[in-house]
Amino acid sequence: MKMSQLLESMTLKEKIGQLLQLAPFFFKHTLKGEVTGHMEDLGISAEDIFLAGSVLGIGGAKEMKELQTTYLAQSRHLIPLLFMADIIHGYRTIFPVPLALAGSFNTELVEATARTAAKEASVSGVHVTFSPMVDLVRDPRWGRVMESGGEDPFLNAVMAKAYVRGYQGDSLNNPFNVASCVKHFAAYGAPEGGRDYNTVDLSKRALYEWYLPAYEAALEEGAHMVMTAFNVVDGVPATGNQTLLKKLLREDWRFEGVIISDYSAVEEMIDHGYSADQKEAARQAIEATLDIEMMSACYIKHLEALVQEGRVDVTLIDEAVTRIVTLKEKLGLFENPFKTADETKEKTIHLAPEHRLLAKQAALESIVLLENDGVLPLNQACKIALIGPYAEERSILGPWSWQGRLDEAITLAEGLASQVFSEQMMIHQGCTLDGEIGDLEETIMIVQQADVCVLALGEPSHFSGEGGSRTNIKLPQEQERLALEVMATGTPTVLVLFNGRPLEIEHLTTQANAVLEAWFPGTEGGSALAEILFGHVNPSGKLPMSFPRNVGQIPVYYNHLNTGRPIKRSMYYRYESHYLDCSNEPLYPFGYGLSYSHFTLTDFSSPKHAKIGDPIQVSVTLTNQSERTGSTVVQLYVRDLSASVVRPVKELKAFKKVTLLPGEINTITLVLKAEAFSFYNQELRLVVEPGLFDLMVGLDSKSVLVKRLALTD
Ligand code: GLC
Repeated sequence: MKMSQLLESMTLKEKIGQLLQLAPFFFKHTLKGEVTGHMEDLGISAEDIFLAGSVLGIGGAKEMKELQTTYLAQSRHLIPLLFMADIIHGYRTIFPVPLALAGSFNTELVEATARTAAKEASVSGVHVTFSPMVDLVRDPRWGRVMESGGEDPFLNAVMAKAYVRGYQGDSLNNPFNVASCVKHFAAYGAPEGGRDYNTVDLSKRALYEWYLPAYEAALEEGAHMVMTAFNVVDGVPATGNQTLLKKLLREDWRFEGVIISDYSAVEEMIDHGYSADQKEAARQAIEATLDIEMMSACYIKHLEALVQEGRVDVTLIDEAVTRIVTLKEKLGLFENPFKTADETKEKTIHLAPEHRLLAKQAALESIVLLENDGVLPLNQACKIALIGPYAEERSILGPWSWQGRLDEAITLAEGLASQVFSEQMMIHQGCTLDGEIGDLEETIMIVQQADVCVLALGEPSHFSGEGGSRTNIKLPQEQERLALEVMATGTPTVLVLFNGRPLEIEHLTTQANAVLEAWFPGTEGGSALAEILFGHVNPSGKLPMSFPRNVGQIPVYYNHLNTGRPIKRSMYYRYESHYLDCSNEPLYPFGYGLSYSHFTLTDFSSPKHAKIGDPIQVSVTLTNQSERTGSTVVQLYVRDLSASVVRPVKELKAFKKVTLLPGEINTITLVLKAEAFSFYNQELRLVVEPGLFDLMVGLDSKSVLVKRLALTD
């Protein structure tokens, strides 16, 4: 049936129903005839539920098919339900959290994890994933930094594209592809104080320069949906913000896909103080061209009256229904409302061996070696004291791993046990993740008997993720105490961290012999860590987000402005931009990560002059001055030394992950296209201005080789 015919045949209420998204418990309880508290909370009827156009989350193929069948049996037009879910870093096979994956600096790897997640999710009846989350982050107090691609717009953008490619593939008709919903539009990653859902207050420039590029990149790659953020943008809630949605997204960026609110964010415009009541919230959101209201009932309860009162033009609703139904058509749901849902396929595809292998590879490339005095890699014959609450802990999947099963995760102890004889390893928790200190005397005795201590510490998983904001980003105090006691024994200690955010760890890293940042490494975390600890795999991860020395330094990020009073003097001078009690530099900078190999960069060459628009090719010699094959990431940064708007001291504009054999010397070339030199001028137009630039190459954002380039018109 043609869209126009379908719209003509639908009642206004039926059209509005397509704009409602509910969680499955509404349908399930209703399926059994129970009236849920939630339904009363939302003030909707059983009839409303069976008008809803999409479902938030689903538990698997069987449940999805049951729900779709029952729903269609009551549907006058047989418009199938759309099933959406948060597949953020894997479905049943869980990959490292996205912040960790960004640190792999490997877009093909990230794309492969997304493709695998889409395959596992599609056989369980999922059609759309609320991913990638591409909110730029600079504040580790915010619990959701673990979902992000980190502090750099360029890395965030290339990773956003990789996720969209992986999820959507070549066509949504392909059974194992799902539609990608990029989120949270916009600038949700900049809440004041790092407190979730708090005010975001940015200049328009900051929004355009830092926060928008990754969303735009995801849409350039073809993401079919956008989710609005909880926060305000320029004082107006994103969910009802016409400038952001109607003007920027629809008109400027020509986005024709579906915009969905975040959970109850339409109704929350009342709390924001933007909407007087639900009816006004409904009007404001539909006029901003928001298509789907997730888990609140302003649309279903008030849009009909607003149209009948002539306060909302019915074409707005028709346009929203058209976008939603078009997405359902692209997914092939009218031909097959179950699409790829298949209980039999679930059994063979979920956690397939090749998926586990990919999860291990993803963890191997995401783990970051932060310190190493030579204690790593471990001697396979050494006697190990494996200490700490994460020694045998299975909750290493991280937040947003809802279908992942902890009992399928490989713990660090299991990973190590597969590499050594049992008598080589003594395990002692030392303290628990919920704060109990064990028998420290026994712990210390075990450590003293060992050749090396692997100290597995970290944040409990629930300290990260949505609602996981912290003002203190240290390890829990009982773990701090355990660490200091263990390291005081003098037994060489390798600190392994499991966490979803950069932590305040300087007081620990100065005493540890080695530090490995594992993040939340996913299903194969323990096996990957063991490979790295024994040197079977050389660590290559880099930091996608700076580690502050302490929480007082936040925000600290590499691509900062120079200010008019940068530190210039070698001796202390009060009147420059610095603290009285702390360095300006982070503990570990963006792009930093060590290897068991020793890499050097030499012979950096680049043109001295070029015309604006010319591609700029640079080259640098990378040498592996070690006896061990290793990988690292050659990073290319740009600085515009003088422009009509001040520019950051450096911006990542290209990178290449390179593997070198022992002793290998390789000339690495990187190309900068015109956009690498562009920025938003005072009129917020993207421009490239002639002038002097510094080009910088490094294996992190701090230690770089510099070349000057003059760009002319
Ligand atoms: C949550 C999150 C969002 C998620 C949605 C559905 O509140 O903010 O990222 O996709 O609700 O679960």
